[in-house]
Amino acid sequence: MTDDEKLNLMAGDDLVGPLRAADDPAFRAGTVHGVARLGIPDLHLVDAGSMGLKQGPNTALAAGLSLAATFDTRAAATAAGVVADEAARRGNDIILGPATDLMRVPQGGRTFESYGEDPLLAARMGVSWIRTVQNAGLMAQVKHFPANNQEANRYGVNAVISQRALREIYLPPFEAAVREAKVATVMCGYNLVNGQPSCSNTALLSTVLRKQWGFDGFVVSDWLAAVKNTDGSLKAGLDLEMPVGAFYTPPLLRASLNKGTVTWSDIDRTLTVRLRTMFSYGMFDRPQRANTGSIDYRAHAVTAQKLAEQGITLLKNNGNVLPLRSGTKVAVIGKAADQFRSGIGSMYVKPVSTITPRQGIAARGGAGAVTYQDGQNLAAAVRTARNAQVAVVVVADARAEDADITCLTLKCAGAKDKTLGDQEKLITEVAKANPNTIVVLQTGGPVLTPWAAKVRGIVQAWYAGGHGGAAIARVLYGDVDPGGRLPVSFPARATDAPAAGNPAHYPGTDDKAVYAEGIFVGYRHYDTRNLTPAFPFGHGLSYTTFKLSNLKATRTTVTATVTNTGKRPGYAVPQLYLGLRAAVGAPQPPRQLKGFSKMLLVPGQSAKVTFSLDARALSYWDQSTQLWKKAPGCTKAVVGTSSRDAALSATIC
Ligand code: GLC
Repeated sequence: MTDDEKLNLMAGDDLVGPLRAADDPAFRAGTVHGVARLGIPDLHLVDAGSMGLKQGPNTALAAGLSLAATFDTRAAATAAGVVADEAARRGNDIILGPATDLMRVPQGGRTFESYGEDPLLAARMGVSWIRTVQNAGLMAQVKHFPANNQEANRYGVNAVISQRALREIYLPPFEAAVREAKVATVMCGYNLVNGQPSCSNTALLSTVLRKQWGFDGFVVSDWLAAVKNTDGSLKAGLDLEMPVGAFYTPPLLRASLNKGTVTWSDIDRTLTVRLRTMFSYGMFDRPQRANTGSIDYRAHAVTAQKLAEQGITLLKNNGNVLPLRSGTKVAVIGKAADQFRSGIGSMYVKPVSTITPRQGIAARGGAGAVTYQDGQNLAAAVRTARNAQVAVVVVADARAEDADITCLTLKCAGAKDKTLGDQEKLITEVAKANPNTIVVLQTGGPVLTPWAAKVRGIVQAWYAGGHGGAAIARVLYGDVDPGGRLPVSFPARATDAPAAGNPAHYPGTDDKAVYAEGIFVGYRHYDTRNLTPAFPFGHGLSYTTFKLSNLKATRTTVTATVTNTGKRPGYAVPQLYLGLRAAVGAPQPPRQLKGFSKMLLVPGQSAKVTFSLDARALSYWDQSTQLWKKAPGCTKAVVGTSSRDAALSATIC
């Protein structure tokens, strides 16, 4: 390669693609044109996170949080299969996903595309998703390395995080992506971490990612504002600036080369890892993928709907008001019932087809059985609810990239979407009119549920994808058991949340957000502080009942038996939590998720669940030695149906 050819490859070079409309098939997040003279192909990058392919109309899958709620790595593989197929057929090479940033604050604008608040759940789902995408011949790009946990001031916030919180909470999903899934590329995020921009953070990009984890792919910047300098980024280990050069431009690189602040070996190193990875993905052995568009959207819609069903989480079902029977007179209430709900931003997918909750329930409920009011006229909504046997109020929040939500109640969760109005008032007025009121939430994260005691059923459907309305209907009518469990805690009060009440912690002051809670994120915080959440991490009901028995625990294996003690087939999601003994300088939460499994059991059927423990599962990050260390003494092992249901416990010594 000539010097110019090298320098021109250091950044993307297409600003037209990413500026097209989301529903334009020619939309593409980024392109790096190759070198025709040498047969170096173009590199096409596309946003295709958990919700599908952002490149014109495609299959809109349920959002990441719904996938995490399935607690099933097989679901992650299935979802990734759909996304990879569409990405390949639309001529792409790199998929900009999965987003494995954890939910640190419940207001997080991009919580909907995350895998929730627990590092193990996020790591397991991410590994399965990445493996499937890469086995299909595309490169995944795990993002946003390593702590893009808020949208507030996202380009400039400096996340001040202890090493222990980094190693035990925020890094594990990325570590698993690298060490287990051999992820081809890593996206460094917009924010700073401990004073250094993520994309010029030597400690993270060189020491941790490459030296300690052995990452041998290439590091790509988030779009534009993530790169803050030329020399620091190149020395730290940023390999490619996207979508176009701002600091990795030939003039600036030449200036640094002339000054000697960077060398040609720095340039060669980044191009070597990139080209080598492209070789290993067969890019030099096959023609450039074309945007053929011959995609089987019907089959993908069926698959996506099944996945959405698996993530739908039944939070409350008093008096078995659910499942509904066909023919029951049902009033469907709410603007959100008549909409396709999704988060917005770089992950937004324009669905090729939609089935709204109103359509899904009307189709499933039986002729003439379902009435609808959008709730704008409260009196009409109340009247319609009163005249039905059951009222289903469908509500939503409006999460987006670039902005955290401003409040956690449904009074204003739709602050960015005026069509939603005061959904809290709608729920309480309908509940007064009909004791059999069920609330269907379509939110991209936790919301406060002060009205929960007033209704008999609560179903969390998340952003359920294009055919989400059909998925919701099938769960409401019991055609499928609700398979979801909460990947995030629902706090009882906003002030209960770990970083609440102190602007220095969230959203940060003077461009600095201090992660003072350390490892005590999500249920780790609520359990340590004895704060009872409205709905705990791991919670979710089935239409049947289960019994756990025969718990046996050793340092390497924990087993238990799960039995369906009810009258209907249902999904069991046994979860293993360990309570590590505190050590000097290393306080511990009462329990941490160390294993989970998902199984469909028919009435009377029993199955054995086996959780394997590795050394890491029994270790903590020791700040004094900066190494992993085995927790002292004995460890309490708990197997239950949520982080708060300690059905069985044993001690491992
Ligand atoms: C956005 C997002 C990132 C996305 C990229 C390309 O700003 O932070 O997730 O993949 O830019 O659209």
